[in-house]
Amino acid sequence: MSTPGKSDVPVIAVDGPGGSGKGTITTRLAEYLGWHFLDSGALYRLAALAVMKKQVPLDDEAALGEVAANLDIRFETHGGAVKALLEGEDVTERLRFEDTGVVASKIAAIPAVRAALSERQRRFRQPPGLVADGRDMGTVIFPDAGLKIFLTASAEIRAERRYKQLKEKGESVNLTRLFREIKARDLRDQSRSVAPLRPAEDAVIIDSTGLSIDEVFDKVVSLI
Ligand code: DC
Repeated sequence: MSTPGKSDVPVIAVDGPGGSGKGTITTRLAEYLGWHFLDSGALYRLAALAVMKKQVPLDDEAALGEVAANLDIRFETHGGAVKALLEGEDVTERLRFEDTGVVASKIAAIPAVRAALSERQRRFRQPPGLVADGRDMGTVIFPDAGLKIFLTASAEIRAERRYKQLKEKGESVNLTRLFREIKARDLRDQSRSVAPLRPAEDAVIIDSTGLSIDEVFDKVVSLI
Protein backbone atom coordinates (compact mmCIF):
# COMPACT_ATOMS: atom_id res chain seq x y z
CA MET A 1 0.00 0.00 0.00
CA SER A 2 1.44 3.38 -0.89
CA THR A 3 1.60 6.17 1.63
CA PRO A 4 0.67 9.58 0.32
CA GLY A 5 3.65 11.97 0.02
CA LYS A 6 3.76 14.58 2.76
CA SER A 7 2.79 17.31 0.32
CA ASP A 8 -0.50 15.50 -0.38
CA VAL A 9 -1.61 16.16 3.18
CA PRO A 10 -3.61 19.40 3.35
CA VAL A 11 -2.58 22.18 5.72
CA ILE A 12 -4.44 25.21 7.00
CA ALA A 13 -1.89 27.72 8.30
CA VAL A 14 -3.07 30.30 10.81
CA ASP A 15 -0.53 32.95 11.78
CA GLY A 16 -0.72 36.15 13.76
CA PRO A 17 0.31 37.86 16.99
CA GLY A 18 -0.46 36.48 20.44
CA GLY A 19 -3.95 37.28 21.73
CA SER A 20 -5.50 37.48 18.26
CA GLY A 21 -7.68 34.46 19.08
CA LYS A 22 -5.56 32.05 17.00
CA GLY A 23 -5.35 29.40 19.71
CA THR A 24 -9.11 29.14 20.23
CA ILE A 25 -9.90 29.25 16.51
CA THR A 26 -7.29 26.68 15.48
CA THR A 27 -8.12 24.13 18.20
CA ARG A 28 -11.79 24.43 17.30
CA LEU A 29 -11.04 24.14 13.59
CA ALA A 30 -8.90 21.02 14.04
CA GLU A 31 -11.69 19.43 16.07
CA TYR A 32 -14.33 20.44 13.53
CA LEU A 33 -12.35 18.94 10.62
CA GLY A 34 -10.99 15.96 12.57
CA TRP A 35 -7.44 17.03 11.60
CA HIS A 36 -4.19 17.11 13.54
CA PHE A 37 -3.18 20.28 15.34
CA LEU A 38 0.19 21.96 15.67
CA ASP A 39 0.62 24.63 18.34
CA SER A 40 4.06 25.79 17.20
CA GLY A 41 4.21 28.43 19.93
CA ALA A 42 4.11 25.58 22.47
CA LEU A 43 7.34 24.18 20.95
CA TYR A 44 9.07 27.55 21.36
CA ARG A 45 7.69 27.78 24.90
CA LEU A 46 8.97 24.26 25.71
CA ALA A 47 12.38 25.22 24.34
CA ALA A 48 12.23 28.36 26.53
CA LEU A 49 11.47 26.29 29.63
CA ALA A 50 14.36 23.94 28.85
CA VAL A 51 16.66 26.96 28.43
CA MET A 52 15.47 28.42 31.75
CA LYS A 53 15.86 25.06 33.51
CA LYS A 54 19.40 24.62 32.21
CA GLN A 55 20.19 28.30 32.88
CA VAL A 56 21.61 28.83 29.41
CA PRO A 57 22.55 32.50 28.88
CA LEU A 58 20.25 34.08 26.28
CA ASP A 59 23.20 35.42 24.31
CA ASP A 60 24.85 32.01 23.87
CA GLU A 61 23.36 31.18 20.46
CA ALA A 62 25.21 27.90 19.96
CA ALA A 63 24.10 26.55 23.34
CA LEU A 64 20.50 27.69 22.72
CA GLY A 65 20.50 25.89 19.37
CA GLU A 66 21.81 22.74 21.09
CA VAL A 67 19.04 22.82 23.68
CA ALA A 68 16.38 23.26 20.96
CA ALA A 69 17.87 20.42 18.91
CA ASN A 70 17.87 18.02 21.84
CA LEU A 71 14.50 18.77 23.39
CA ASP A 72 12.95 15.84 25.23
CA ILE A 73 9.27 16.70 24.88
CA ARG A 74 5.99 14.85 24.58
CA PHE A 75 2.34 15.77 24.16
CA GLU A 76 -0.21 13.49 25.82
CA THR A 77 -3.97 13.64 25.39
CA HIS A 78 -6.05 12.87 28.46
CA GLY A 79 -9.81 12.97 27.89
CA GLY A 80 -9.55 15.73 25.28
CA ALA A 81 -7.05 17.85 27.23
CA VAL A 82 -3.46 18.00 25.96
CA LYS A 83 -0.62 17.79 28.47
CA ALA A 84 2.88 19.00 27.61
CA LEU A 85 5.81 17.11 29.14
CA LEU A 86 9.39 18.32 29.30
CA GLU A 87 11.86 15.60 30.31
CA GLY A 88 8.88 13.68 31.68
CA GLU A 89 7.65 16.56 33.84
CA ASP A 90 4.16 18.01 33.28
CA VAL A 91 4.73 21.67 32.36
CA THR A 92 1.31 22.39 30.80
CA GLU A 93 0.59 25.28 33.15
CA ARG A 94 4.08 26.78 33.26
CA LEU A 95 4.06 26.85 29.49
CA ARG A 96 1.45 29.62 29.55
CA PHE A 97 3.18 31.89 32.08
CA GLU A 98 4.11 35.35 30.80
CA ASP A 99 7.83 34.92 31.52
CA THR A 100 7.88 31.70 29.48
CA GLY A 101 6.35 33.62 26.54
CA VAL A 102 8.92 36.39 26.84
CA VAL A 103 11.88 33.95 26.80
CA ALA A 104 10.21 32.00 23.94
CA SER A 105 9.99 35.20 21.90
CA LYS A 106 13.66 36.01 22.61
CA ILE A 107 15.04 32.61 21.64
CA ALA A 108 12.69 32.47 18.62
CA ALA A 109 14.81 35.20 17.03
CA ILE A 110 17.83 32.87 16.95
CA PRO A 111 18.32 31.08 13.59
CA ALA A 112 19.78 27.90 15.17
CA VAL A 113 16.72 27.57 17.43
CA ARG A 114 14.29 28.03 14.52
CA ALA A 115 16.22 25.55 12.37
CA ALA A 116 16.17 22.96 15.16
CA LEU A 117 12.40 23.27 15.55
CA SER A 118 11.48 23.39 11.83
CA GLU A 119 11.70 19.66 11.10
CA ARG A 120 9.82 18.80 14.29
CA GLN A 121 6.98 21.06 13.16
CA ARG A 122 6.82 19.55 9.67
CA ARG A 123 6.44 16.07 11.18
CA PHE A 124 2.99 17.08 12.44
CA ARG A 125 1.78 17.03 8.82
CA GLN A 126 -0.06 13.72 8.85
CA PRO A 127 -3.25 12.50 7.13
CA PRO A 128 -6.04 13.48 7.04
CA GLY A 129 -4.74 17.05 7.45
CA LEU A 130 -3.16 19.63 9.73
CA VAL A 131 -4.25 22.91 11.26
CA ALA A 132 -1.04 24.80 12.13
CA ASP A 133 -0.98 27.75 14.53
CA GLY A 134 2.02 30.10 14.73
CA ARG A 135 3.89 33.06 13.32
CA ASP A 136 5.55 31.59 10.23
CA MET A 137 3.34 28.62 9.33
CA GLY A 138 2.30 30.10 5.98
CA THR A 139 5.56 31.88 5.19
CA VAL A 140 8.27 29.36 6.17
CA ILE A 141 7.12 26.01 7.59
CA PHE A 142 4.23 25.17 5.23
CA PRO A 143 4.55 27.60 2.29
CA ASP A 144 2.39 25.23 0.19
CA ALA A 145 -0.54 25.31 2.67
CA GLY A 146 -3.87 25.28 0.84
CA LEU A 147 -5.32 27.99 3.04
CA LYS A 148 -3.37 30.67 4.88
CA ILE A 149 -4.98 32.97 7.37
CA PHE A 150 -3.40 35.88 9.18
CA LEU A 151 -5.43 36.63 12.27
CA THR A 152 -4.82 39.90 14.00
CA ALA A 153 -6.40 42.36 16.46
CA SER A 154 -5.42 45.68 18.02
CA ALA A 155 -2.78 45.52 20.78
CA GLU A 156 -5.31 47.06 23.23
CA ILE A 157 -7.89 44.34 22.73
CA ARG A 158 -5.22 41.61 22.82
CA ALA A 159 -3.92 42.95 26.13
CA GLU A 160 -7.47 42.98 27.53
CA ARG A 161 -8.12 39.40 26.40
CA ARG A 162 -4.84 38.23 27.89
CA TYR A 163 -5.58 40.13 31.11
CA LYS A 164 -8.91 38.32 31.49
CA GLN A 165 -7.34 34.92 30.76
CA LEU A 166 -4.56 35.39 33.32
CA LYS A 167 -6.96 36.76 35.93
CA GLU A 168 -9.18 33.70 35.52
CA LYS A 169 -6.12 31.54 36.15
CA GLY A 170 -5.43 33.47 39.35
CA GLU A 171 -2.22 35.15 38.12
CA SER A 172 -1.69 38.66 39.43
CA VAL A 173 -1.50 40.94 36.41
CA ASN A 174 -1.34 44.60 35.54
CA LEU A 175 -3.10 45.69 32.34
CA THR A 176 -0.73 48.55 31.50
CA ARG A 177 2.29 46.29 31.94
CA LEU A 178 0.68 43.56 29.83
CA PHE A 179 -0.02 46.09 27.07
CA ARG A 180 3.62 47.22 27.13
CA GLU A 181 4.85 43.61 27.05
CA ILE A 182 2.56 42.76 24.14
CA LYS A 183 3.84 45.75 22.15
CA ALA A 184 7.45 44.78 22.92
CA ARG A 185 6.80 41.16 21.93
CA ASP A 186 5.10 42.24 18.67
CA LEU A 187 8.06 44.41 17.82
CA ARG A 188 10.53 41.59 18.55
CA ASP A 189 8.51 39.03 16.56
CA GLN A 190 8.05 41.41 13.61
CA SER A 191 11.55 42.80 13.39
CA ARG A 192 13.70 39.66 13.74
CA SER A 193 15.73 38.81 10.67
CA VAL A 194 14.62 35.16 10.44
CA ALA A 195 10.97 34.27 9.83
CA PRO A 196 9.54 37.56 11.10
CA LEU A 197 5.85 37.73 11.94
CA ARG A 198 4.13 38.90 8.77
CA PRO A 199 1.27 37.68 6.57
CA ALA A 200 2.19 35.43 3.64
CA GLU A 201 1.50 37.13 0.31
CA ASP A 202 -1.38 34.72 -0.33
CA ALA A 203 -2.83 34.91 3.20
CA VAL A 204 -6.36 36.09 3.97
CA ILE A 205 -6.15 38.74 6.69
CA ILE A 206 -8.84 38.71 9.36
CA ASP A 207 -8.97 41.44 11.99
CA SER A 208 -10.77 40.03 15.03
CA THR A 209 -10.87 43.34 16.96
CA GLY A 210 -14.64 43.83 16.81
CA LEU A 211 -15.58 40.19 16.27
CA SER A 212 -16.68 37.39 18.58
CA ILE A 213 -14.96 34.00 18.45
CA ASP A 214 -18.02 32.54 16.70
CA GLU A 215 -17.91 35.25 14.04
CA VAL A 216 -14.21 34.64 13.39
CA PHE A 217 -14.75 30.88 13.28
CA ASP A 218 -17.60 31.24 10.73
CA LYS A 219 -15.42 33.46 8.55
CA VAL A 220 -12.60 30.90 8.61
CA VAL A 221 -14.93 27.99 7.83
CA SER A 222 -16.40 29.92 4.89
CA LEU A 223 -12.89 30.13 3.41
CA ILE A 224 -12.23 26.37 3.44
O1 DC B 1 1.98 31.82 20.24
P1 DC B 1 2.79 31.85 21.52
O2 DC B 1 2.54 33.10 22.32
O3 DC B 1 2.63 30.60 22.32
O4 DC B 1 4.32 31.92 21.05
C1 DC B 1 5.35 32.19 21.95
C2 DC B 1 6.52 32.84 21.21
O5 DC B 1 7.11 31.89 20.32
C3 DC B 1 6.16 34.05 20.35
O6 DC B 1 6.38 35.27 21.00
C4 DC B 1 7.08 33.95 19.17
C5 DC B 1 7.51 32.52 19.12
N1 DC B 1 6.94 31.79 17.99
C6 DC B 1 7.60 31.91 16.78
O7 DC B 1 8.57 32.65 16.68
N2 DC B 1 7.19 31.18 15.71
C7 DC B 1 6.10 30.39 15.81
N3 DC B 1 5.72 29.70 14.73
C8 DC B 1 5.40 30.30 17.03
C9 DC B 1 5.84 31.02 18.10
